[in-house]
Amino acid sequence: MKKIEEYVRSIPDFPEPGIIFRDVTSILQDADGLHLAIDLLQDTLKDVDFDVVVGPESRGFIFGVPVAYNLHKAFVPVRKKGKLPCETVEMEYDLEYGSAVIEMHKDSIKPGQRVVIIDDLIATGGTIEAIIKLVESLGGEVVKISFVMELAGLKGRERLSGYDVSSVIRYEGK
Ligand code: PRP
Ligand code: MG
Repeated sequence: MKKIEEYVRSIPDFPEPGIIFRDVTSILQDADGLHLAIDLLQDTLKDVDFDVVVGPESRGFIFGVPVAYNLHKAFVPVRKKGKLPCETVEMEYDLEYGSAVIEMHKDSIKPGQRVVIIDDLIATGGTIEAIIKLVESLGGEVVKISFVMELAGLKGRERLSGYDVSSVIRYEGK
């Protein structure tokens, strides 16, 4: 059986010189790769007691929903600004390349709910830091944060210190 690392295609110098882009689509386009990624993500939650999975648009949806479905939990989407129809809370944050505003519905997390955040990748940690602030502003408790891939060289994990962070694949570089 192939290891999960073997499903990831690495593209040098994309989107700019010196960056190695870790392509999550190459995991998804292989049935075994997709299964393995979801199974390994779920393994990171084995001993975690939680109510809801929160995942950011768009790649966080891909991995968050199957995990929530398999474990019979709710899924709450975090969306880029302007997409959610009801009352929202929003947060601006810096991305690896630029900045953005994300939103959640105000009623999407109930006070006291235990939240797991799932995304494909942690780079600088800016996306997840903003999501933590949103979840906590709604009264949720972030009990676990799990990624498929971690670019350890960007030190995103340090930005999330104090939280329980796991990644399935860790790359030492950027
Ligand atoms: C990418 C990736 C993570 C985030 C990681 O999403 O999917 O969500 O960046 O970067 P950070 O740790 O520096 O915040 P992106 O905003 O490119 O959007 P997408 O998921 O819609 O492709
Ligand atoms: Mg993303």
